[in-house]
Amino acid sequence: MSVRVEREGAITLVTVERPERLNALDTATLRALLAAVQELATEEAIAVVVLTGAGDRAFIAGADISEMVEKSPAEALAFAELGHAVCRAIEEAPQPYIAAVNGYALGGGCEIALACDIRLASERAVFAQPEVTLGIPPGWGGSQRLPRVVPPGIARELLYTGRRVDAQEALRIGLVNAVYPADQLLERARELANRIAANGPLAVRLTKAAVRFGLEQGLEAGLTYERQVFAYAFTTEDQREGMRAFLEKRRPAFRGR
Ligand code: HXC
Repeated sequence: MSVRVEREGAITLVTVERPERLNALDTATLRALLAAVQELATEEAIAVVVLTGAGDRAFIAGADISEMVEKSPAEALAFAELGHAVCRAIEEAPQPYIAAVNGYALGGGCEIALACDIRLASERAVFAQPEVTLGIPPGWGGSQRLPRVVPPGIARELLYTGRRVDAQEALRIGLVNAVYPADQLLERARELANRIAANGPLAVRLTKAAVRFGLEQGLEAGLTYERQVFAYAFTTEDQREGMRAFLEKRRPAFRGR
């Protein structure tokens, strides 16, 4: 199986598992990843998903170059669309996704990480959009998401040169939120996931949707959307529970409804 899904209470660990190819994504692995993300999106009990790569060398070393080399333009388009579908499914998933970047995140691997809500890196992480060194532009959203995550001038430099960025530089330019020793990365990602999962699950889902909506549709539309989800939250038990718990000086027992 090229994608492993491990449910750990309210959080789930998804591991891309093709270590002999540094977890490079071929069509079969992409389809398995898409199916996993779509399945998890239907599971209300899952609050946060952590995405990582198998082994200690790579998160995802990109799209599988040996599969791409002889593609026709139509096949290339279909392959781009499949990768886009994975990134969009992650972005539109109700749960926040944390990318635990444990090694190379190159090309399509960097693009999948960019589609996640939060990126954490191990000291060994290496990011790049090396597509131009292969004679192609980015194909799974890198030209759009990288300049929305790091400053546009830095994104342009990285996209035009294909140069690699180590974990410390990734931290400095805002590509990742934090850098940890390799043997602590998953533990720290679980801690962050559990911290998010301790909050009202509906509130977190509404917040993810509002952030994405506003970033895509603009400030005015985003502010309108925020008011609507804010009012909607007052139809839920979690809103009463969260506020009563505060007033009664106890921990809330959120039920996700
Ligand atoms: C296919 C890959 C691969 C990839 C690594 N491998 N990355 N196979 N596609 N993206 C394979 C290698 O061929 C090799 O197979 C094995 O994994 C181990 O890799 P090595 O190269 O031997 O390891 P090392 O010398 O340590 O170099 C690691 C590396 C290098 C720096 C990550 O493998 C590399 O540069 N990979 C390509 C990275 C890249 O350009 N990614 C972007 C792809 S384009 P064998 O059989 O020799 O053991 C892309 C576009 C997305 O992602 C959009 C598409 C529409």
